[in-house]
Amino acid sequence: MEFSIKNGNPESQRGDCLVVGIFEGKKLSDAAKKLDDASNKAISTVLKTGDMEGKIGTTLVMHNIAMIAATRVMLVGLGKQGEFGEAQYRKVVRAAIKAMPKGVKSTGFYLAGLPIKKATAQSKVAALVEVVMDTTYQVNSIKLKKAEPVTLNKVTIYVEKSESAQAENGVKHGLAIAAGVSLAKDLGNLPPNVCTPTYLGDQAKKLAKSYGFKVEVLEQAEIKKLGMGSFLGVAQGSNEPPRLIVLQHNKGKKSQKPVALVGKGITFDTGGISLKPGADMDEMKYDMCGAASVLGTFKAIGELGLAINAVGIIPTCENMPSGNAIKPGDILTSMSGQTIEVLNTDAEGRLILCDALTYAERFEPSAVVDIATLTGACVIALGHHPSGLFSNQDALAKELLEAGEKAHDRAWHMPMWDDYQTQLDSNFADMANIGGRAGGSITAACFLSRFTKKYHWAHLDIAGTAWKSGKEKGGTGRPVPLLTTFLVNRAAGVK
Ligand code: BES
Ligand code: MN
Ligand code: ZN
Repeated sequence: MEFSIKNGNPESQRGDCLVVGIFEGKKLSDAAKKLDDASNKAISTVLKTGDMEGKIGTTLVMHNIAMIAATRVMLVGLGKQGEFGEAQYRKVVRAAIKAMPKGVKSTGFYLAGLPIKKATAQSKVAALVEVVMDTTYQVNSIKLKKAEPVTLNKVTIYVEKSESAQAENGVKHGLAIAAGVSLAKDLGNLPPNVCTPTYLGDQAKKLAKSYGFKVEVLEQAEIKKLGMGSFLGVAQGSNEPPRLIVLQHNKGKKSQKPVALVGKGITFDTGGISLKPGADMDEMKYDMCGAASVLGTFKAIGELGLAINAVGIIPTCENMPSGNAIKPGDILTSMSGQTIEVLNTDAEGRLILCDALTYAERFEPSAVVDIATLTGACVIALGHHPSGLFSNQDALAKELLEAGEKAHDRAWHMPMWDDYQTQLDSNFADMANIGGRAGGSITAACFLSRFTKKYHWAHLDIAGTAWKSGKEKGGTGRPVPLLTTFLVNRAAGVK
């Protein structure tokens, strides 16, 4: 998709389609009014028929309007004027793209000029680009009958001349985030017989080559040398060898401490000996979406050449049952030296993350954020809208919450009080790997907190947000927008 920024009156713009907004109550936006005036009231005449009332997300396409240069005009409902905000704006852009007639190859949007509280020309243009890319995303499917390709290939975004420079910046940021989201979706959607730990390692190397990152992909023997007994415990049940991926983007000042992103990379979670039930088990191919979001975020900051130091750490393996697999009752020794009694082999995410979090210490990070499809309990607590956020530092939590709001990729702050810690007591080891049914996403975070005492840390449980089930099954690319925005803010010094 090609995006460009232009100025000028709507009536004189050529192209296959122009999108303008109508507020509820048949109230014309400024751009719609200009078209109406130039066309001897063609738009108000159509509105009088009652075919379009301006309800949010409704659309109506008009053809061959006299005195209008574009082939079509799409009216899109903006909803109530007083309620119009960024969420509505995104919904409207999505609806317009979905309703775009087949023959449209190029379209122009007169929506970024609509006033939205707290939004800037840059943020509105970036949001438009992100939504267009998200809506037109196609799975690279392995079907004999290929999906019809998207015909739309050119999008022009109209803004006031004075806002052109800001808008160009918006295109750049929007495209960077979209590229990261698209990579995270692609990796998540791949079948688990293709997207293995080795495959993720190769993808990290490819990414490093394109953007100049430093990359290391550690193999089993090196992981063992590091003493990662917990991570290797999970990996031992599988025939696929594990990998520890370490990416470094060093575009900040030499003296600046890096931000570390740690992503759970279970390329398939059967539950292990504590085997999961069969229904929907295929969705456990998405158990590497934390890893995918780290790679996606690195793609985005690579595209932007962002002036920051960042480290990506990805422990990746399969969780399988086999004669070599860990059993309930086994005790593992983590890299930190703390021992863990495995009471349920399906609580494997925390077992691979704890060693990666200990490994993160060597980078003396200013902050560490781990991202993991960690618990079904988080989905029960929060549903599919926000990711669960846990942190040992309120200022870091606030930064991430605000980045999520700004990026429309929200998180919700969950408690992580010491009161919960006793649920992890074990009679035989320093801790158990599960804490019972009550507050399952919180005790998982409490488990991780025992390995993150040396730095500011936050944990994003993305079990409810990383992919969609049912008819729309597919990766969402979340939380790449949140993470990228967080890093962009940090690079700009907005703490
Ligand atoms: N990957 C799962 C969490 C998960 C389950 C995410 C379903 C999204 C949908 C994780 O490894 C897991 O199995 N967690 C267990 C923990 C339990 C054994 C304490 C869970 O949530 O049931
Ligand atoms: Mn599991
Ligand atoms: Zn898992």
